Amino acid sequence: MSTIAFAGAVHQSGAGESVLETLLRHGADVPYSCRKGTCLTCMLVARSGEVPDFASEALKPTEREQGMFLACQCPADRDLTVALPNRATIYGRARIQSKEALAPEVCRVRIRPANDLYYHAGQFINLQRADGLSRSYSLASVPSLDEHLEIHVRRLSGGAMSSWIFDTLAVGDEVDIQGALGSSYYLPGRPEQDMLLIGTGTGLAPLYGIVRDALASGHRGKIALYHGSRAPNGLYLRDALRKLAAAHDTFTYTPCISGDSAEHDCRVGRADLLALDDHASLDGWRVHLCGYPPMVHAAKKSAYLAGASLADIFTDPFDLKDLRAAPRDSEAARSDIW
Ligand SMILES: Cc1cc2nc3c(=O)[nH]c(=O)nc-3n(C[C@H](O)[C@H](O)[C@H](O)COP(=O)(O)OP(=O)(O)OC[C@H]3O[C@@H](n4cnc5c(N)ncnc54)[C@H](O)[C@@H]3O)c2cc1C
Ligand code: FES
Repeated sequence: MSTIAFAGAVHQSGAGESVLETLLRHGADVPYSCRKGTCLTCMLVARSGEVPDFASEALKPTEREQGMFLACQCPADRDLTVALPNRATIYGRARIQSKEALAPEVCRVRIRPANDLYYHAGQFINLQRADGLSRSYSLASVPSLDEHLEIHVRRLSGGAMSSWIFDTLAVGDEVDIQGALGSSYYLPGRPEQDMLLIGTGTGLAPLYGIVRDALASGHRGKIALYHGSRAPNGLYLRDALRKLAAAHDTFTYTPCISGDSAEHDCRVGRADLLALDDHASLDGWRVHLCGYPPMVHAAKKSAYLAGASLADIFTDPFDLKDLRAAPRDSEAARSDIW
């Protein structure tokens, strides 16, 4: 049995627990979201005790040097004294510039950071509310094209942050942002490489940024974008993407509907299955997969089997904060979310 000291209290860890699980079980107030090492909202600093390297490998070298690590990735099998990192080193202030509906359940939020943010289209930021609630949102904006950061938020029924963004967040409000984070973005080094991009729901956001970044950078290889949704009204930005496809011979856009309500100008079926059916060989291709996590993981495997090198497959699974103690819903119900 080990102990985790945090905010003046010392907590006993349970067998197999992560530091995050121990702290949450004891009611400690620590931010977290995905619990999978993706979102980086659960960063803590080790004041004493040894943290294994893998618990900090997703962090920047400067953060590692300060003893920062991810609480959800660190086993609580050793005595540690931990603290929340200094907010000023992680978060910056930003102001909401605009908010508009892109679809009934999707809104576009444009954000102006107080200090310039160095980022690539397709990376994500963590948005933090004044009470500490944090969630990740992918960047649809392109640094060389857009003045503001742009995110696309899908409203989740009962979702704490997305409901707040839809119902309460107003133009002019201030929020804190962390980032930019993540390694799924356009790499300008290989302009001839063909690219396959598959996204479901607001998984379009990072891909919208990547496509525009690639085209603006003079990418010469093919760029094939498949956007999937169960229903037509989840396929937002259709006109903008069609215009982009009309203006660039190398870019194709395929909207896909996986539910019952077909539309004449959309393909019927799951975006990942259609995309991989259309591209039997992905030898030499770069692949970006974003949105509903089971789709991302399944399509990664299929893309690899179709010949894409693992180093050329970039994934951005939108892992939700799992608020339940035990699984309750079916895969079909979860796929409705994205
Ligand atoms: C790297 C990354 C990038 C992301 N990018 C985007 C983006 O660009 N746009 C976007 O809209 N979202 C994105 N997300 C998801 C986003 O961070 C939030 O998780 C999402 O907005 C929901 O937050 P919330 O506070 O509204 O919901 P929460 O309060 O966190 O609750 C989630 C809701 O879903 C339910 N729920 C939780 N787990 C399950 C489950 N397994 N099955 C069914 N229901 C479940 C809960 O009961 C609750 O109703 C991203 C996530 C990651 C990790
Ligand atoms: S990285 Fe730990 S909660 Fe997301």
